[in-house]
Amino acid sequence: MLARVHSAAIHGVDAYPVQVEVDVSFGREGFAVVGLPDAAVRESIDRVEAAIRNSGFEFPKERITVNLAPADIRKEGPAFDLPIALGLIVATGQVAADGVLDEVALTGELSLDGRLRPISGALPMALGSRMAGRRAIITPPDNGNEAAVVADFEVFTVKTLYDCVKLLESNLRDEPVRVSDEQIDLETPPYEADMADVKGQEHVKRALEIAAAGGHNCVMVGPPGSGKTMLARRVPSILPPMTLDEALEVTKLYSVKGLMRPGDALIQTRPFRHPHHTVSTAGLIGGGSVPSPGEVSLAHHGVLFLDELPEFPRNALEVMRQPLEDDEVTIARAQTTLTFPANFQLVGAMNPCPCGFSTDPQRECTCSPTEVGRYLKQISGPLLDRIDIHIEVPRLTSDEVMQRRPGEPSERMRNRVVAARRQQHERFGGTPFHNNAEMNTKALREFCPLSDEVAALLKAAIEQFALSARAHDRIIKLARTIADLESAEQIGVAHTAEAVQYRSLDRKLWG
Ligand SMILES: Nc1ncnc2c1ncn2[C@@H]1O[C@H](COP(=O)(O)OP(=O)(O)O)[C@@H](O)[C@H]1O
Ligand SMILES: [Mg+2]
Ligand SMILES: [Zn+2]
Repeated sequence: MLARVHSAAIHGVDAYPVQVEVDVSFGREGFAVVGLPDAAVRESIDRVEAAIRNSGFEFPKERITVNLAPADIRKEGPAFDLPIALGLIVATGQVAADGVLDEVALTGELSLDGRLRPISGALPMALGSRMAGRRAIITPPDNGNEAAVVADFEVFTVKTLYDCVKLLESNLRDEPVRVSDEQIDLETPPYEADMADVKGQEHVKRALEIAAAGGHNCVMVGPPGSGKTMLARRVPSILPPMTLDEALEVTKLYSVKGLMRPGDALIQTRPFRHPHHTVSTAGLIGGGSVPSPGEVSLAHHGVLFLDELPEFPRNALEVMRQPLEDDEVTIARAQTTLTFPANFQLVGAMNPCPCGFSTDPQRECTCSPTEVGRYLKQISGPLLDRIDIHIEVPRLTSDEVMQRRPGEPSERMRNRVVAARRQQHERFGGTPFHNNAEMNTKALREFCPLSDEVAALLKAAIEQFALSARAHDRIIKLARTIADLESAEQIGVAHTAEAVQYRSLDRKLWG
């Protein structure tokens, strides 16, 4: 007899429907899986057999053929265990669930005793199954909340294969999973690290607020222990709350990468990723025989923190060009080409010199000027070109370390960032730009007219610090964001003067 069970398979960050067909017929005892299964699907044969026997069902001593359709897309992972096992139980007439089988998709890895283990990709599978016309999905317990984020769709969880059979026999008479409002609230994202933890460093926080307000990539320069990592980790918390679409995009990426924790529903906080400078190209931009997202995608809608920026190999920074330019990354393989979203805010950190102490008033720097120059020039030009803000981070004085007064909390900074972004939203309506950082030269001329005083100030700064034409454009963008934070219509002299301060590396590198 032939049974047909619905499931889903991951391709990139999305899932497509898969029909699991199980045929049991007379013939030489054996088990064949067709439809481009990978090693994991083949291994599932053994798990399925043990799980069926240990759940009190009979495993047929006949000729079994399992077909995963469509056959032309590569499938991976153990998530087909449950649909295959259920198909076998139906095909051998051990359960009558014909009525409901067409309405529901199934996914889950089986352990030998018939219990279900969590799978990755539950959210995209739920979305894909709804799109394919199913009304419900059955998942392992740990994946239920994540799948239940999908609207107008029912999610049931089962602990064991036996429970799954009973649920189908009962015509899905069980309570569908419901996530609490708290688990999907995006208005007040639950960040664990808050800017209030940071003592002093007011001007650094100010610069990070400007970076967040205009979508500007930035780099912090300061001695070890000055708090660069601490500050960077808190940048997501001052970015605007994610929209539902953004949160779903992020959750899908973490879901297919297998990074959701049991019981997680929706990722509510913007990501913070901090790959080490020894990260492989595949680790950074994504890869693998069946490509999975890399750090640039796991930082999507959040912050990619590159600590010790000059230590990153040139090639690593080269491959980041496409995501920096296009907000997505394309991974080409012989069989498929996949695109993952990768729209992140870049935050870099570095020492001011090889020994780290050239800007530290309390420690002696042991580097020669040549060594310092060589160190700074290690950051690739194309990358530095995309960094709008250079922030000097001094080490805290002992007075500042001792102070008890908490700093300004993230929420207040975030509210100002949201207000500044609103102005950019109005400015760029009907254009391809979302924020000031994205403006090209033409947009800059259109949206950022300069008064005579501002033009004169810029000219003086360019001459004094020998700034490049690019630095000139960057300063105007920054000044525009600083003006937006004040709800100022026009870019003023004070905005521009502050913006000039954030180009200190230009002076060090080329001055
Ligand atoms: N401004 C600050 N306020 C509170 N603690 C700080 C501050 N700066 C540094 N620290 C403390 O010093 C530690 C080291 O800071 P870290 O961010 O790792 O410095 P860096 O990355 O610049 O080397 C932090 O974990 C934190 O405990
Ligand atoms: Mg650090
Ligand atoms: Zn030094």
